[in-house]
Amino acid sequence: MLTLGIETSCDDTAAAVLKDSDTLLASVVSSQDQIHTRFGGVVPELASRQHLESIVPIVTEALDRASVTLKDIDLIAVTQGPGLIGSLLVGFSYVKALSYVTKIPFVGVDHMAGHLLAVFLEEDKPSFPYVALIVSGGTSSIYLAQSHTSFSLLGRTRDDAAGEAFDKVAKLLGLPYPGGPRVSEEAKAGNRAAIKFPRAWLEEESLDFSFSGLKTAVLNHCNQAKQLGNPLQLADICASFQEAIVDVLVEKTMLAARRHNVQTVVLGGGVSANPRLRESMSGRCQQEGKAFFVPRPSFCTDNGAMIAMAGFYYSQGSAPGSYEQDVYSRSQL
Ligand code: KG4
Repeated sequence: MLTLGIETSCDDTAAAVLKDSDTLLASVVSSQDQIHTRFGGVVPELASRQHLESIVPIVTEALDRASVTLKDIDLIAVTQGPGLIGSLLVGFSYVKALSYVTKIPFVGVDHMAGHLLAVFLEEDKPSFPYVALIVSGGTSSIYLAQSHTSFSLLGRTRDDAAGEAFDKVAKLLGLPYPGGPRVSEEAKAGNRAAIKFPRAWLEEESLDFSFSGLKTAVLNHCNQAKQLGNPLQLADICASFQEAIVDVLVEKTMLAARRHNVQTVVLGGGVSANPRLRESMSGRCQQEGKAFFVPRPSFCTDNGAMIAMAGFYYSQGSAPGSYEQDVYSRSQL
């Protein structure tokens, strides 16, 4: 069975061809970073216009690289939500039209399901149940995954997502968008204990996150340094800020795993490309005797392969998508 996966939820136009459940024949991602970087963040209107221009060439390239044509495709999986409505509409409307013309069935996929399953694109696969921390520009959530299609939300951010916090702090430090990779790069040369930034644990035993106070603490630190005429120690600020985020993400994920008596921990979403988060989570899992799985960085950030995989599993035993369906901005998982 061949599944064409299409992703346009934010600022990456992506397409992939997946054979059966996990043999990836091609994956193509067109990033819009260059377009949005001069605005310091994603401009939704520009993002949807760029998806319009990119979607046909990107799908064509994915099919060519997989050495197949649309005639060989059995299913089209497309991100239905969450994300930017204008961006989602481009991918979803394109797929509805393609399905209408070619008679290939389609399935709408929740973007979070893609991140939750991306790890199955790797050789080394986890077994169910697992606790997954999904951290990206739009979300920071902990899930209990019981099967390829059954996920329970255990905790989520109450304000900024982890990636959003990275991007906003990068902006206030004068680093270009997307800030996450730049902050983690700067952090490599810094001392993570240099500045005591706050950790928002929230109520005792809570699995929710809050990162807006941390962002304000970084702003206050920078303002104070300026007032005192002290130079900003960029690497130390980045390393200390990153450590504050990583500490909370790791602690709460381990708490969730203990509470649900789960022996396997999975990481996904764009922020899980962060080397310190990967290292810290891996170390804690080793200490607590838990198995740890994380996809390679290119499967952590948005891609069509994870959407194809989630679509493959969702299509088993459920009705195909219908033309009346619409996109949605908030995850339904
Ligand atoms: O999952 P993703 O590609 O897109 C969505 O938000 O859905 O995640 C993008 C986010 C951005 O906020 C970006 O700054 C962050 O992931 N990110 C990182 C790193 N690489 C990407 N954050 C911290 N460290 C990184 N190395």
